[in-house]
Amino acid sequence: MRLLIAGIGLIGRRHLEHALSMPQIDVVGVVDPQLRQEHVPHYSSIEAVTVEADAILIATPSHLHADHAEAAAARGWHMLIEKPVAHSLDAADRIIAAAETAGVQTLVGHHRRHHSAVAALKAILAEGIIGTPVLASMIWAMKKPDPYFDVAWRAGPDGSPVLINLVHEVDLLRYLFGDVISVSGTGSNAQRNAARVESGAAVLGFEGGMAASIAFADTSASPFGFEAGTGENPNIGATGEDYLRICGTKGAVSFPSLTVWSGAQDWSQAPKRARHDWAANVPLISQLEHLADVCSGKAPPKISAVEARKTLETTLAIEAAVGVTCLA
Ligand SMILES: NC(=O)c1ccc[n+]([C@@H]2O[C@H](COP(=O)([O-])OP(=O)(O)OC[C@H]3O[C@@H](n4cnc5c(N)ncnc54)[C@H](O)[C@@H]3O)[C@@H](O)[C@H]2O)c1
Repeated sequence: MRLLIAGIGLIGRRHLEHALSMPQIDVVGVVDPQLRQEHVPHYSSIEAVTVEADAILIATPSHLHADHAEAAAARGWHMLIEKPVAHSLDAADRIIAAAETAGVQTLVGHHRRHHSAVAALKAILAEGIIGTPVLASMIWAMKKPDPYFDVAWRAGPDGSPVLINLVHEVDLLRYLFGDVISVSGTGSNAQRNAARVESGAAVLGFEGGMAASIAFADTSASPFGFEAGTGENPNIGATGEDYLRICGTKGAVSFPSLTVWSGAQDWSQAPKRARHDWAANVPLISQLEHLADVCSGKAPPKISAVEARKTLETTLAIEAAVGVTCLA
């Protein structure tokens, strides 16, 4: 796969490092008006690219995704777009329309769908060990350092953890349980008193009656969160603690330890505990391998722009629900 990478910032740099280490990928150029990368052809804009490519990885700021996806589609490149697919539903629709018109594939960077622990959890649910899921309870509570908010765009409402962090949690829950049909929530900015939500809770209703709660905070030095639990992100301290519990008609499972409880007929019996293993992988690498398969027609995208738009829609609904209580 001849790959371009646009946006060599925080996440683009990690993608570039992985792509350069993969024999099946030829990084034919990087696109960024700010940064020059040694040993790789550099272009200051997508329009300036002169090299042939099969795909582009768009890791530019979210509000530019639609512009860049339209430009990429016009060049006939398949694309991996970082999450969130776009900053608004209208922008997501522009991406979907451009890709359809050009006949190119879109894959969106919800990389947890490529995490081996998530695959193992999905397999446990599919095997029916805990029966039909009826509820899930999640805590994502991390303390962001103060300088994180010194960047201009993060100082205001766009620095809310909902579209930055909870979008991952929403996509994970959608991946496990399907489409969301209702959203409610409450939020607060009591610690930092900034013009954005910093903590709160959301309740999601799913088709089929399943409900999930997400309690969140970027002001808490707790050990609970996907990144802390799995050790997935080199920039976030690993704790190994569970942050998600799923309860079903025949038992329950907590994640990421994959501790499964089953065997009780009703509340007169204590369910038995068992541990399931998962072998660590690097999801960003698995995602690039999948992109190569998508480009060569070997696999449909695990999450296309159409599917990621649904995750965005739910996340924006959470932002509206939790924001109303503290930003009115
Ligand atoms: N999957 C994840 O876990 C994850 C993590 C972080 C960020 N992201 C997403 O990745 C995207 C980028 O986030 P970031 O934190 O890396 O941002 P960043 O600000 O660190 O980097 C963005 C880069 O894009 C470049 N850029 C700006 N305009 C450009 C243009 N017109 N053409 C090409 N490059 C341009 C900037 O110069 C910068 O180098 C966002 O959509 C974000 O939500 C995803």
